[in-house]
Amino acid sequence: MKVGGLGDVAGSLPDALRALPAEPDVRLMLPLHGGFDSRDLGLRLIASFGMLGYTREWKVQVYETVASGSPVYFVSGDGIDPDGPVYRPSAAADGPKYLFFSLAALEFCRQIGWRPDIIHANDWHTAFAVYALKQRYGSEPFWTETGSLQTIHNLPYQGQGAESALPEFDLPLSADPCVPEWARGFPLALGISAADKVNTVSPGYAWEILTHDHGAGLDPLLTARRDDLSGILNGIDTESWNPTTDAYLAHRFDLSRLADRAKNKLALQAELGLGASAAVPLLAMIGRIDVQKGVDVALAALVLSLDLAWSVVFLGTGDPALEAAILEFCRQYPDRARAILTYDGPLAHRIYAGADALLIPSRYEPCGLTQMFGMRYGCLPIARAAGGLTDTIVDDGNGGDGTGFLVPGMSEPEFSEGMRRALRVYKDKKTWKRMQRNAMKQDFSWRASARLYLDLYRQIHSIRQAERNRMAGKQTRDVR
Ligand code: GLC
Repeated sequence: MKVGGLGDVAGSLPDALRALPAEPDVRLMLPLHGGFDSRDLGLRLIASFGMLGYTREWKVQVYETVASGSPVYFVSGDGIDPDGPVYRPSAAADGPKYLFFSLAALEFCRQIGWRPDIIHANDWHTAFAVYALKQRYGSEPFWTETGSLQTIHNLPYQGQGAESALPEFDLPLSADPCVPEWARGFPLALGISAADKVNTVSPGYAWEILTHDHGAGLDPLLTARRDDLSGILNGIDTESWNPTTDAYLAHRFDLSRLADRAKNKLALQAELGLGASAAVPLLAMIGRIDVQKGVDVALAALVLSLDLAWSVVFLGTGDPALEAAILEFCRQYPDRARAILTYDGPLAHRIYAGADALLIPSRYEPCGLTQMFGMRYGCLPIARAAGGLTDTIVDDGNGGDGTGFLVPGMSEPEFSEGMRRALRVYKDKKTWKRMQRNAMKQDFSWRASARLYLDLYRQIHSIRQAERNRMAGKQTRDVR
């Protein structure tokens, strides 16, 4: 179930972990959202139980399927609308669903007698589990050895409003003095405060969220936890994103066959109804149409660069006002601009394979995946120097040894200047090709990051064991 980058991560990381020599027993749990075709999944009911709330008993059913050789559990029941979307427009509306899911996930482990070493929770939606583990279950023998990791994929989304769901399951507001007063019921703050370790999806973003500018109000809490905070870059699925084998491409290519890549550009220009031309650089912007992604900055920077030759294609969906601005831009510049405002996976592949450069003027970027897809396909990123973008793109100043172009400021003229710099290098075919080869050679697979996650899990496990030994020692002393 993929709505954004988190879907990519949750789908790929478990497989990458299992492929490590340690072969950890990884099990994935998610709500049985509306929109899954359960017949295709071959679901099997494996547990059914009740959870006592303040006003009623909540029935839970858990279904199992096996994906890439390991169990995936789908939680369904009274708290989850079988026809509901993954995300509703507000966290207030989604709070009860994700609190129910988080608690049911914990209770399910006990029901089947499977004691996890680590609960790894992603974003505010599952942070309730981390909080409940510490707040409520920590003292129960079943859970004393279970540690927790809270991953932050996007800090400003803290589950504001979801706190109204807490009383039903008798969970108090946070008593941690490092949690600001206004966030004491926000699930992400609860998770950050309660987890054994906290991480974000790039080292750069892990550092940025300690600052006032990017801390979204939680920088004091994160600073208090900085010894337990780290950043691990996301990887990408290098099998489905492989220009050598990509079934969506008319012309597959690799490092040594960049001429075949050029054929994809001509095919793409024809598909989009833009005049076919190898000489006119084709720019692209792919992903969520969102303020975070700086769509407005891209449009303004393009207008500032109208004296240069370029054409541009936008692909993605999101904010209606920004979508309207893109359509208006396309109306004004019909010879240069195209927009496909839907989620179209195959077209995304063809754009990465055919466009020359990607525009990524993100206001902030926890990790970002498009730049990695782009580089793997020889489509060079022109990106704001932020978070995961800085961690994955090499800018050597003049092109040559780099893999893309990083723009320091957020202003429209600065981004336009970055585009000009890229388009200057584009005219120098030799340098551009060298950069494409550099970019395509980067290893963005999950392998290295999965190892870092395993290390982090092991650290958490040691913390729990030390804690258990401390408790056991204390009990012995108390008995004496
Ligand atoms: C969020 C972030 C993005 C990140 C993704 C997966 O969507 O905005 O930067 O790549 O999560 O971690």
